[in-house]
Amino acid sequence: MTNEIKEVWLSEEQINQRVEELAEILTEKYQDKDPLVVAVLNGSFMFCSDLLKKMNFPLELNFIKVSSYGNKTESSGNIQIDGGRIDMKDRNVLIVEDIIDSGNTLKKLSEYFAQLGAASVETVVLLDKPSRREADIEADYAGFKIADQFVVGYGLDYAQYYRNLPYIGILDTEKLNIE
Ligand code: IMP
Ligand code: MG
Repeated sequence: MTNEIKEVWLSEEQINQRVEELAEILTEKYQDKDPLVVAVLNGSFMFCSDLLKKMNFPLELNFIKVSSYGNKTESSGNIQIDGGRIDMKDRNVLIVEDIIDSGNTLKKLSEYFAQLGAASVETVVLLDKPSRREADIEADYAGFKIADQFVVGYGLDYAQYYRNLPYIGILDTEKLNIE
C-alpha cells in the first residue's frame, strides 16, 4: 500500500506546526464569539481534532457529511449535504475542511449556512489547491497551498484508504492506474 505514495509532501512535524499557527489565529478571532464549528466529514476528522485541541475556549462542535459524485480524484460539483439539523441562527460559523479544490463544496456549504441564518460563515482548510478552482470562493484561513497533485493522508483519502497516515503524501496515480 504505502509504496503507492511517491513522496511525503508534509511531515507530521510540518503539519503540527502549521496547525498550531492556525489555532492561534483562530483563537484570536473566535475566543469571545462562542462559535459553531462545523467539521466536514470524512476528510477533516484528523485536522479538526488536532486544531480544536489547540483552541482552548468555549465552542460548539458539530459535523456534516458531504458526498460528491464524480470520478475518484475530483469532485463533480454535484454535492449532497447530510448533517441532520444544526441550528445556525445568529451563530458565527466556522467550517473546517481538509482541502479546497474546485471550491464547489465550500461554496455550497457557505451559501447554505448563510441561508439557515448564520451571522457569519468562515472557512478554515488545511490545504488549498488554487489552480483547480471553479467556484468563486477562497478559504478564509488555509494551512498550505498545493499544486495540482493528488495527496492522501492526515484524513485525506483515495477510495477511503490512506486517511490514517500521520503525514500527507503524494499518491502515485500511475501505479494505481487512475487518470
Ligand atoms: P472541492 O469541492 O472540489 O473543493 O473538493 C473538496 C473535496 O475534494 C475535499 O473535501 C476532498 O474530499 C476532495 N479532494 C480534493 N483534492 C483532493 C486530494 O488531493 N486528495 C484527497 N481528496 C481530495
Ligand atoms: Mg472531503
